[in-house]
Amino acid sequence: MINKVLQKMEYLLGFINIPSRSRHELIGNLKLPCATKLNGCEAKIDKYGRLWSQCLKKGFPVGTELEIVRNEEGYHIFTVNTKENLASFEMKQKDKARFFGSYMGENVKASIIKPYFQAGSICIFNEDILKIEDIGNNSIDLIVTSPPYNVDIKYESYDDKIPYDKYLQFSEKWLTKCYNLAKDDGRLCLNIPLDKNKGGQQSVCADLTTIAKNVGWKYHATIIWNEQNISRRTAWGSWLSASAPFVIAPVEVIVVLYKKRWKKTSGSRKSDITRDEFLEWTNAVWNFNGESKSRIGHPSPFPIELPRRCIKLFSFVGDVVLDPFLGSGTTLLACLETDRKGIGIEIDENYCKLALKRLKEYGIEQRKLLV
Ligand SMILES: C[S@@+](CC[C@H](N)C(=O)[O-])C[C@H]1O[C@@H](n2cnc3c(N)ncnc32)[C@H](O)[C@@H]1O
Repeated sequence: MINKVLQKMEYLLGFINIPSRSRHELIGNLKLPCATKLNGCEAKIDKYGRLWSQCLKKGFPVGTELEIVRNEEGYHIFTVNTKENLASFEMKQKDKARFFGSYMGENVKASIIKPYFQAGSICIFNEDILKIEDIGNNSIDLIVTSPPYNVDIKYESYDDKIPYDKYLQFSEKWLTKCYNLAKDDGRLCLNIPLDKNKGGQQSVCADLTTIAKNVGWKYHATIIWNEQNISRRTAWGSWLSASAPFVIAPVEVIVVLYKKRWKKTSGSRKSDITRDEFLEWTNAVWNFNGESKSRIGHPSPFPIELPRRCIKLFSFVGDVVLDPFLGSGTTLLACLETDRKGIGIEIDENYCKLALKRLKEYGIEQRKLLV
């Protein structure tokens, strides 16, 4: 492992001049020029000992301090200064190399490695799911997520009260993006309301399921999540009158979709679900309470039981799980608990901060991290 500060020409042209003092360690007796890999991308080392890759071109700003590691898969680079102070999470160098080799190399592209937080197998991007380019296509085993519902929830950055047609257009875009990110046997557990009354009645579940199918997802099942909370009810339409009563189902759903094949062949093939869990959870009416907004400090968190069940039922140990609308980080807590690799994307920095705080409280530092 060597450190090096990126120079202007390296930034512009897309190479790293391996310092002569480090050539023995990083090049050794390789016959130059030669082809290699850099964080999983095509790369080459020219006869002068310069490491070239398209993914380096304008990838990191001039002056970035990089660490360069070589292993049997090729080369791996890391930025030394990340946005968040990770002092307490700093991984041992060998873990870093293994992590990036086996995980980031495949799942997170080299060009823009700038996660808000990353330790072991858990990674948070403070990004817009529609814009993020850091995650490789065909790399995700399972997506578990609860997107904004467009019911005027007061998020910090996202406007949750847009015209319904615009909301559906947004849904189509992120469902397409996630489709591309999923492996061929990848799955999507989509937690949405069955319907909505606020701001006009809409068949949210039917509409989003149709859009998901139109962009390529295949339908598997719908799980009814009975939140067992009917006290929230305030709107009656016309009280004790047939003139315009509101009929409201106090449930949400988890629509289960898959990309190309339902049968999962990729991954460790190791399941950790117990007999009782399997018997209970394959009955598609789930009964458990919702999560308290004030306890978590986010306007719409789901309880950890939701991602926990989806993860154990629909993925293998060690799989890569993505939540493109991470919110307070609940899906990543479930990943930690179940030994899955977790990637979360959240547009709002304050929620990223909250997710990180919850991960720390959950004991991310003490836990054995998958590498
Ligand atoms: C329903 S909440 C998710 C809550 C989460 N399941 C939890 O347990 O905390 C939706 C989240 O998506 C975020 N968001 C909205 N638009 C986004 C986008 N384009 N990309 C990434 N995150 C987005 C919001 O800031 C909000 O935190």
